[in-house]
Amino acid sequence: MKIASITDAGKKRLQKHREKQKEQKARIRNDLEQYGREILNSDEMQQAFRQTHHTRSTVGEHTQRVAEKSLAICYALNRLHIRTDIPAVVAGALCHDLGILNRDEKYASDQECYRQHPSDSVEVAKKLVDDLPKKTPDIIERHMWPTAKSKVPNSLEGMVVSMADKAAALEDFIQGSSVKHIGLKETIQNIRERSNHRGS
Ligand SMILES: [Fe+2]
Ligand SMILES: [Fe+2]
Repeated sequence: MKIASITDAGKKRLQKHREKQKEQKARIRNDLEQYGREILNSDEMQQAFRQTHHTRSTVGEHTQRVAEKSLAICYALNRLHIRTDIPAVVAGALCHDLGILNRDEKYASDQECYRQHPSDSVEVAKKLVDDLPKKTPDIIERHMWPTAKSKVPNSLEGMVVSMADKAAALEDFIQGSSVKHIGLKETIQNIRERSNHRGS
């Protein structure tokens, strides 16, 4: 009887945990669609899913991981009453590595790529987003910290994206492309479909 009640309590906890996870995924998807629409809908983002990154992943999947982790950190901070600029984080996370597209043609060496791609990503962000959030260029420019002789992030949002980037890079190397995601590809597809629908 006692074992049965513990099991029931465990099941309830598990169910509650799954519901919370589902809610968080929906929140992430909403924030990405609301604040990242132009970026998600860009040719650059489509191309990102075709370029290998961190040996076993793609730039797109890495970007997806960074965006998810950045937002998860922001929500956790929010629960501690520490506010973050979500639009700036979304644009920063989604664009932070887009400058690395066509890396083999653009950069003479890996070192040049490490040093130069943040600035190139800022240029891509400026091109893709008409009204880029004020903090986003610095978030992108400093995302490589503490590697590649990068400057230290100068905002909480920059620190969030930089930490998410390192954690995501580890996952890229360890788990590759096989891990199940929130569905950024689906998000892109949804945005495209809605755009087409509105345009017709
Ligand atoms: Fe990077
Ligand atoms: Fe990155």
